[in-house]
Amino acid sequence: MPPIHSSARVYSLPFVLRTYDFWVLYITNNWIWRCSTRTVLLPFYQKHIGESAHLDVGVGTGYLPANSIERLAKTKNVTLLDLNPDTLEASEARIRGAGYKGVIDKVNQSAFDPLPQSLREKFDSISTFYMLHCLPGSFPLKASSVVANLAAGLTPGGVLYGSTVLGKGVQHNWAGRILMRLYNRAGTFSNYDDGVEDLENALKEHFEDVEVTQLGVVALFVARRPRSI
Ligand SMILES: C[S@@+](CC[C@H](N)C(=O)[O-])C[C@H]1O[C@@H](n2cnc3c(N)ncnc32)[C@H](O)[C@@H]1O
Repeated sequence: MPPIHSSARVYSLPFVLRTYDFWVLYITNNWIWRCSTRTVLLPFYQKHIGESAHLDVGVGTGYLPANSIERLAKTKNVTLLDLNPDTLEASEARIRGAGYKGVIDKVNQSAFDPLPQSLREKFDSISTFYMLHCLPGSFPLKASSVVANLAAGLTPGGVLYGSTVLGKGVQHNWAGRILMRLYNRAGTFSNYDDGVEDLENALKEHFEDVEVTQLGVVALFVARRPRSI
């Protein structure tokens, strides 16, 4: 099992997994990061799911795939990748419990490490929601290495998409400033220097077609046509 960095360790606390959906996906997203889960993140997650194989990176509680079962019905394989084995277990159980009938694979590794050979050019969609802001380091460097690893997992027509909370060039409200300080001190987040332009540059290094939009303090990105294929 790979060593678990503080960006992923906190999710082994049962209290965190139990309260994550309410605290992060409902309260924090609506009023602090100002990017609604229900009206923005979930529809965005569902929109790009491919029909053959989907990889979700940084799975947390599995809320997004478990609430996308109708959209996932045609997807034959869902692969979950996370540094923390507890989030992988919890997410798999939740997706199965929500009625997904296809194959679920779990990969316990860091997104900083290259994908195993068996996963190269396998996925028509790869999502990574709210993981980049957890990773140590800052944009463009940390995003660039993760994006390069994930790009290698895409089929030529595949799409990489996701979301991340920004720290640079955005106006956090008072509650946001408190959370940023707490989470960055604890090592759960590392995003004080994460700006939207650096994210865009990291994506453009590895993809020909990149769209980045911003809502509240959250960047939403879609990248197509990996340069390496
Ligand atoms: C904030 S949660 C995001 C959960 C979910 N995607 C969502 O949007 O609700 C971050 C996830 O990233 C995982 N994570 C943190 N560092 C990681 C790394 N280096 N490689 C892979 N996963 C990591 C954590 O274990 C956790 O499951």
